[in-house]
Amino acid sequence: MGKDVIIALDFDSREKTLSFLDRFTEEKPFVKIGMELYYAEGPSIVREIKSRGHKIFLDLKLHDIPNTVKKSMAVLAGLDVDMTNLHAAGTKAMMEAALEGLTRPDGTRPLLIAVTQLTSTSQERMEADLLIDKPLDQVVMHYAKCAAEAGLAGVVCSPLEAGKVHEVCGKDFVTVTPGVRFADGDVGDQVRVTTPARAKELGSDYIVVGRPITQTADPVAAYRRCTGEFVG
Ligand code: C5P
Repeated sequence: MGKDVIIALDFDSREKTLSFLDRFTEEKPFVKIGMELYYAEGPSIVREIKSRGHKIFLDLKLHDIPNTVKKSMAVLAGLDVDMTNLHAAGTKAMMEAALEGLTRPDGTRPLLIAVTQLTSTSQERMEADLLIDKPLDQVVMHYAKCAAEAGLAGVVCSPLEAGKVHEVCGKDFVTVTPGVRFADGDVGDQVRVTTPARAKELGSDYIVVGRPITQTADPVAAYRRCTGEFVG
């Protein structure tokens, strides 16, 4: 699995997004389009960024009944994204239906990645609100295993969990890991963070980096620093 840095395009408009991307004159970074930008601009922003030559991770985290997810995934496959995702909590049946919907007539499909437990969910909230009383890391590994059994390509997880996920689900099972910060950078609202270099050591396949690249004076330099540390 080729390692890569994915920039989270957490912007609320086409103008801000394109003026950010215009700064990259030499490289075409792999980018993540999340709910904020997608809901603001719709599928046209996906097509526009794709036509500029970027790979796209469409991070919409689907979670609904299998039939609805299957039909929605078929629409997303038509957008020609490279990676998309759903919540493993929707069950194996939902994940299998999603894969079916995502598979194009020629047999190709974007990488389908599962969200396990959100990193914003604590052990305490999981027990009290979701009535799940197992240790959080055990729950994350179980969801990863279910995703692998359903045929998904990988999971979103913390770099700190990447090694264990590979042990449980195999080395080719992809780990996409946010929560990355430079050693001398701001942590912001992320709690458990690692540097790009440490994420590489821990076995992450893709790191998702937002503010350390988007909210800095020189995003191109920050992106190059990230790829230098992570991809080498
Ligand atoms: O700015 P920052 O580097 O914290 O951005 C991380 C990106 O990864 C954001 O788009 C955030 O929504 C996403 N993400 C995350 N933790 C997860 C899942 C997604 O930070 N567990």
